[in-house]
Amino acid sequence: MAPRRQADILVVGGINTDFLVQGPRLPRAGEHVEGHLFLESLGGKGANAAVAASRLGARSTLLGRVGMDARGLALLEQLEGEGVETRAVSRDPGFSTGVVLEMVDESGRRQSLSAEGANRRLSVADVIAAEDRISGADVLLAQLAAVIAAVHIARAAGTHVVLDPAPPSTLPEELLEAVHVIRLNDAEAEVLTGLEVVDRDSARRAAENLLRRGVGTAVVAAPQGTLLLGTESELWLPNLPVDWVDTTGAGDAFSAALCVALGERRSLTDAARFAHATAALATMRLGALSGLPNRDQVVSFMARIDSLALSPEPVSW
Ligand code: RIB
Repeated sequence: MAPRRQADILVVGGINTDFLVQGPRLPRAGEHVEGHLFLESLGGKGANAAVAASRLGARSTLLGRVGMDARGLALLEQLEGEGVETRAVSRDPGFSTGVVLEMVDESGRRQSLSAEGANRRLSVADVIAAEDRISGADVLLAQLAAVIAAVHIARAAGTHVVLDPAPPSTLPEELLEAVHVIRLNDAEAEVLTGLEVVDRDSARRAAENLLRRGVGTAVVAAPQGTLLLGTESELWLPNLPVDWVDTTGAGDAFSAALCVALGERRSLTDAARFAHATAALATMRLGALSGLPNRDQVVSFMARIDSLALSPEPVSW
């Protein structure tokens, strides 16, 4: 189902090569465990979200930084093959392209170790060089410390700002006050608010903390589902019935789909339901990129969920 209008999304975020091994269990320190499946893939929260947005029908631009190495060139070619605009991805002569070593066991538990490399060298100058693209976008999806400059440019231009502060870190209050929507998983919410998120009620307490600090709408993922809290009301999205394999990249898929739907001028409720279904489908394959669904897959999955009357309880927005 084609969108009513094509959303224009600009993603600021990390670009990595993911090296993933799946095995029977995760090794303890000093231990060797023999796995049975290896996956090398384009990854990084920014790259994943940019590909997800493109697969969902949006015009998708990525602002990030890779090295001058062969991996960086290969990632750029793969991004272009996915329809992502890469002219705002700069190349660093002195640092290698980011890399993440991921381990996933058969019950979906994960460990990863990253060398962020060129990602950490994305500068305010890189952001300012992309000012026209940021100003022209419907939605900015921002994930890196260097995003404060991008957020200010976006706010000044009336571009919607969605912040996905991963990996978890404390954030300056000026950034929280400038974002329309923040999306956090339970670990990120605890780092930002100091509140442990274990269920809907604790997710609400963390979301209320973020609204008091200036965020417009807080989206907090709990183990049982995802809570959206705005200044006027609340929406609870219970986990959807899918045969999940690996949650890597599901948060990136959620953020990207939320931005795509907001960029199509859909309501926050519709955008959240679209994002929730996209993220659920993204967990059905190993690794981040391989699970990212296209638009038709999400739309037909939502129709099936609605027919099972599993859609979240309606609330006023
Ligand atoms: O969110 C998933 C991503 O986090 C992976 O692709 C990996 O690159 C890490 O950045």
